[in-house]
Amino acid sequence: MTQRIAVIPGDGIGVEVTSAARTVLDAVAARHGLDLAFQEFDWSCARFAETREMMPEDGIDTLRGFDAILLGAVGWPGVADHVSLWGLLIPIRRAFHQFVNHRPARTFAGVPSPLSGVGPGDIDILVVRENTEGEYSQIGGRFNQGLAEEAAVQEAIFTRQGITRVADYAFTAARARSGRLVSATKSNGIVHTMPFWDEVVRSRAEAFPEVSWRSEHIDALAAKVVLAPSSLDVIVASNLFGDVLSDLTAAATGSIGLAASANLNPSGEHPSMFEPVHGSAPDIAGRGIANPVGALWSVVLMLEQLGHAEAASDLMGAIERSLADAATRTGDVGGNADTAAVTEFVAAAVGG
Ligand code: NAD
Ligand code: IPM
Ligand code: MN
Repeated sequence: MTQRIAVIPGDGIGVEVTSAARTVLDAVAARHGLDLAFQEFDWSCARFAETREMMPEDGIDTLRGFDAILLGAVGWPGVADHVSLWGLLIPIRRAFHQFVNHRPARTFAGVPSPLSGVGPGDIDILVVRENTEGEYSQIGGRFNQGLAEEAAVQEAIFTRQGITRVADYAFTAARARSGRLVSATKSNGIVHTMPFWDEVVRSRAEAFPEVSWRSEHIDALAAKVVLAPSSLDVIVASNLFGDVLSDLTAAATGSIGLAASANLNPSGEHPSMFEPVHGSAPDIAGRGIANPVGALWSVVLMLEQLGHAEAASDLMGAIERSLADAATRTGDVGGNADTAAVTEFVAAAVGG
């Protein structure tokens, strides 16, 4: 049966790395006999500039019938980030209950880590980020704008159901990996939400006796990512903590251009969305030098979720071989290839 994939390249290097992902997907599909159909949507800041909307009013309904969504990145100077993100990215995550943001980070052969003494295989961390609630709430506002009394208020929302389901996903992932889990917290701060987070995570731990877990304060945990990354395996974190940690774990492995993500609706009732962790990178857009690996690894996660394990591991192997050689990796990871050269190598490696 044909699997339908919605493709939203977005803005800046989102367009460049999504084009790389499409080229590689065609090669993987041909090699493994996959029946995939693609439909591309021009939803972006460029579209906003013309129509005043990031996606059409029925955008979510349009996506509803797809088996997966592949996204580049959205955001561009001239359109406020809160407009581009609340106009596309966040509504998709929420409408489709993509409550897990699965963000792996690994050190690869050939790619130098900025951390001393860290080599290939030393970092293998999975950040499980809560993806629909927490600090990213719509409740709050700006008050008294322009006055001396000006203020901004943001309410964080944590629900028992929301914490439970992301904790269950993280404990299950930890059980299938090394059996170790760290929960990021800030229960020593003057906040009401984190003691509740801790309590719910602790209650879920009882269902996973094989997993050894502990809570760590987010500040100390961030330091640990730099000082002792090999000691970490699965980290479960709230929306904002997980956002910050996943750029940090990516940077620790060499570049945020490597990092992949899957916004998962684990029940499969709605489409999941796959996207690199990085943004539209206006500072390098248009130069053809963006690292496509974050997008390509996201395709690996998509293939796994669509049930194509063999194709996924074939593609991951091709990505690893490209990273191993400076001639087929980009400048941000110490290579001298451009986006096109990496793409061509990976497409040939999976197609050959
Ligand atoms: P960014 O991730 O776009 O860039 C941060 C730095 O990393 C830049 O120096 C950039 O050149 C570099 N970088 C990022 N991806 C790279 C790659 N693949 N190869 C090589 N270098 C890479 O983050 P930012 O600058 O904070 O945000 C830029 C825009 O992207 C903003 O509008 C932001 O809101 C948006 N954004 C969107 C998403 C998304 O749609 N999922 C994610 C993050 C940021
Ligand atoms: C990410 C991004 C988004 C997030 C922004 C652009 C809203 O940084 O996917 O990591 O914070 O979720
Ligand atoms: Mn982020």
